[in-house]
Amino acid sequence: MNIWARKPVEELCSEAGVDGEVTALPRSIGVFALTCIGVGATVGAGIFVLTGSVAAEHSGPAVGISLLLASIVCLLAGLCYAELAAMIPVAGSAYSYTYATLGEGIAWTVGWCLMLEYLFSASLVAISWAGYAQSSLHQFFGMDLPAAWMSAPFDVKDAWHIYRTTTFANLPALLVTVACTLLLLGGLKTSARVNNVMVVAKVIAILVVVFVGAGYVHTSLWHPYIPPNTGQFGVYGWSGVFQGTAILFFAYIGFDAVSTMGQETRNPQRTVPLSLLLGLGICAALYLAVSFVVTGLVGYKDLDVPDPMYLALDRAGPAVAWAKYLVGFVAVVGLVSVLLVTLMGQVRIFYAMGRDGLLPAAFARVHPRTRTPHIGTIVTGVVSSIAAGLLPLALLNDIISMGTLLAFGIVCGGVLVLRRTRPDLPRPFKAPGGSWVPLAGALCCAGLMATLPRLAWIGFIFWLVIGLAVYAWYGATRSKLQRATRA
Ligand code: ALA
Repeated sequence: MNIWARKPVEELCSEAGVDGEVTALPRSIGVFALTCIGVGATVGAGIFVLTGSVAAEHSGPAVGISLLLASIVCLLAGLCYAELAAMIPVAGSAYSYTYATLGEGIAWTVGWCLMLEYLFSASLVAISWAGYAQSSLHQFFGMDLPAAWMSAPFDVKDAWHIYRTTTFANLPALLVTVACTLLLLGGLKTSARVNNVMVVAKVIAILVVVFVGAGYVHTSLWHPYIPPNTGQFGVYGWSGVFQGTAILFFAYIGFDAVSTMGQETRNPQRTVPLSLLLGLGICAALYLAVSFVVTGLVGYKDLDVPDPMYLALDRAGPAVAWAKYLVGFVAVVGLVSVLLVTLMGQVRIFYAMGRDGLLPAAFARVHPRTRTPHIGTIVTGVVSSIAAGLLPLALLNDIISMGTLLAFGIVCGGVLVLRRTRPDLPRPFKAPGGSWVPLAGALCCAGLMATLPRLAWIGFIFWLVIGLAVYAWYGATRSKLQRATRA
């Protein structure tokens, strides 16, 4: 087996251009829908839930700095993504780019990391959705769902110990994942339309928080802006801001979902990089604005709640009660759109890996009527819903960030390699700043990985070892590229 075997860029592109075959995905998405997919996959639990807990436990009011730093890392990686996405506009995102640049073994590792990113962030978003849904039911109707069915049967203590809780499963999280899977099975057009509506609603809700809340901000709550460190690494002070950055990196996960859809996009060389950067810019602007308003309405120590935006508007006073109900409602709907798009992205990664023979060909089979990779969708839905029902939020969050950071770092490295090995290829978009942008992107990703807790490293290494075993056992022997080389 040759783990360094590379798939020629021309071959990837010509495969993606094939139409009329059963495996071909139709090109039906334009700039607006694709940007909505990016924003839809990105704006979710990170801003609706994690901003509050990061402010309370790590960054204080300086959660805005954490978000800004995370957005800079994402911008560096995003520029590299845009360069590769414009050159290689096929399904599979970073996995496909790596196959063309760094070879099959690393491409498999990236695909395996992206599974961590997409499969499990879908679960995490479903868990956050369940939290918001529960608190909305309580606030709107005074209804409480049975606690035994509202959270995972396991939890994590001291970033290290996993223990059994008294509950059975997170049933709402499991059910919402199943519902989204069924919607995706209905076809991309329907899902994209539902997604557009939800994304617009989500952006409006965030703008409401910003514009309505801004009038009630108490600037005194921003002092001290970076609370002094308590003596423990990561609890306030600059170490808290940096640890907050690594955790809030999750809030930006998903902007790369745009690049998983390259094969279904019209005029992809222009549309994909444009939507990618546009989506990232919109998210960063919304996040920064929200973080200022929320920390200006509620003391940072009180923000460790499942619905910080709702709490912020509640503190603004009864005159804006309408806004808090609107936000509570839209958060519930908006989180569904993240879930939908995240599942959609995972299915496309399975599709690309199945097409290349690294996973069973069934993953690349497209349903003749709905034109969606239905088997990949069902597998994605089953795994994500089980994880959503059984695994704790904290554990998932850190491991997902780890996998995503590695994939982003490799994409940055891939840009450098491809510029050297294939300077001849047309680059409809080129990341500015020469080698500095990809280099800085790769280093920042590695730096953020280093700040993540030990349990996340252990979980991640465990995941990688399983992945490499699966590759050695299945992918390396069934890969189409390897077979073609042997023949
Ligand atoms: N970025 C996505 C979220 O915050 C995954 O929910």
